[in-house]
Amino acid sequence: MSNGISNTTSETKLGGRFTFPGTSLTVQRMGYGAMQLAGPGVFGPPKDPEAAVAVLREAVAAGVNHIDTSDFYGPHVTNQIIRQALHPYPTELVIVTKLGARRPADGSWQSAISPEDLTAGVHDNLRNLGLDALDIVNYRAMGAIHGPKEGSIAEQVTALADLRREGLIRHLGLSNVTAAQVAEAQAITDIVCVQNHYNLAHRDDDALIEDLARQGIAYVPFFPLGGFTPLQSSTLSAVADRLGATPMQVALAWLLHRSSNILLIPGTSSVAHLRENLAAAQLTLAPETLAELDGIAAEGMAAKP
Ligand SMILES: NC(=O)c1ccc[n+]([C@@H]2O[C@H](COP(=O)([O-])OP(=O)(O)OC[C@H]3O[C@@H](n4cnc5c(N)ncnc54)[C@H](OP(=O)(O)O)[C@@H]3O)[C@@H](O)[C@H]2O)c1
Repeated sequence: MSNGISNTTSETKLGGRFTFPGTSLTVQRMGYGAMQLAGPGVFGPPKDPEAAVAVLREAVAAGVNHIDTSDFYGPHVTNQIIRQALHPYPTELVIVTKLGARRPADGSWQSAISPEDLTAGVHDNLRNLGLDALDIVNYRAMGAIHGPKEGSIAEQVTALADLRREGLIRHLGLSNVTAAQVAEAQAITDIVCVQNHYNLAHRDDDALIEDLARQGIAYVPFFPLGGFTPLQSSTLSAVADRLGATPMQVALAWLLHRSSNILLIPGTSSVAHLRENLAAAQLTLAPETLAELDGIAAEGMAAKP
């Protein structure tokens, strides 16, 4: 359609469904990332706790059944808000959490990756979310400033696989990892998703996405809208104007078109932004528009010294 809005049914309204490999967990491809619900700097309580509850309830009412979180958001705050807003949880809701960091009183991010840390983290998540078992836990490797860093993650993945055998975790994923680390983890246990930094302008993982798609493994980009530095591009704005959409909607629609194993978890603390983001799943991008948008990353590469 000329305005880019496609005919939708309840099946496709949120981008269609995806089943995590080897699991009975099926989610809409358009989900929600809860990190923005904590206070400034992802630390402490939000300014408006009722607004945070309203965002979560609106997401679920709209059909979202994939929520990304962590007990180190706040810390504890985001999970407690999820519980307050949504417990008892709808049966189809899949809550994905992550381990690997802790937040001391100074608000810094410290790694928490010993088997004892990981076990304590699982129990913190269970308690704060009000669950007996966690659907999916991502091991979040700390990495370097700009992305993942090579190095063995076998000890951590083995510890989490043990907790899975105990029944505290249903399935495992990885975050902020390299292709070699994914392969290393897969030699230890089944991996159902990978959550790394990726968006229109940051495409280091293009090859990894293809590889995971061949295996049916979900790729879940964090910072899909640019995170703390929202995406800005004249090409993106021009495409959005032409389609009668917002730049953020086009950025999300591009990700949904990029590969069928991509699941979205855009973060927002605002009901208005949430509605705008969910509506992005109804945007259809023509091949020539996709090619134009693909040029954004190339421009960024050319601009790098
Ligand atoms: N594994 C990891 O290491 C890792 C790292 C970071 C994030 N995550 C996960 O990934 C999720 C997504 O990442 P993110 O939340 O950091 O970044 P993001 O989704 O790329 O962007 C969120 C930012 O964009 C703003 N925003 C959202 N929708 C908007 C809209 N329609 N128009 C204008 N601004 C909009 C939000 O502000 P408002 O609140 O004002 O809308 C917020 O500042 C997180 O929520 C978290 O669950 C994982």
